[in-house]
Amino acid sequence: MDRITLREAQKLSSPNPFALISTVDEKGRNNLMALSWWTYCSNNPPTVAVCLSKKGYSGCLIKATGEFALCLPNESLQEAAFRCGTCSGRDTDKAQLFGITLESASEIAPMLVSQSKVALECRSTQIVETGDHYLFVADVVAAHGDPGAKHLLAEDGYTCLAAY
Ligand SMILES: Cc1cc2nc3c(=O)[nH]c(=O)nc-3n(C[C@H](O)[C@H](O)[C@H](O)COP(=O)(O)O)c2cc1C
Repeated sequence: MDRITLREAQKLSSPNPFALISTVDEKGRNNLMALSWWTYCSNNPPTVAVCLSKKGYSGCLIKATGEFALCLPNESLQEAAFRCGTCSGRDTDKAQLFGITLESASEIAPMLVSQSKVALECRSTQIVETGDHYLFVADVVAAHGDPGAKHLLAEDGYTCLAAY
């Protein structure tokens, strides 16, 4: 094998998971962000972990509210979901701009993406500073799913999405 950079390793290990993280600000405005760095990390209690850049708006909102929805968008959002990773909710209403439908969650304030295969309602329990990102560990307080849908994976080192 050749010696490679982490960036090259991320490209070689594609496809990667893909999700939309839904958060809410203090005025109740919802935001969506593209996210590949997530994992299940416990069955009991049901727990996930997500890794968000310190520079982004979504991480600030999770730090402030402790809540987020982790939504795996279905194939109908192949283009729109990717675009949620190209601009910030600080100055853009991404759901409105990209035509993404939201619906109320049952246990948390952030809305769920209606066009999802899976949507997990999450409450953050731990924050770890990992370098230029925060790792949020969170309890899954409700889960929703659509077994008939396909979901999206990030390909070629996060440069496009494909349905599986
Ligand atoms: C396919 C894809 C995957 C991404 N995965 C992550 C990720 O895991 N963590 C992260 O911090 N940013 C990730 N991003 C970048 C954020 O989505 C992007 O910086 C976004 O503009 C942040 O939005 P916000 O400021 O509204 O939170 C990804 C972008 C794309 C296109």
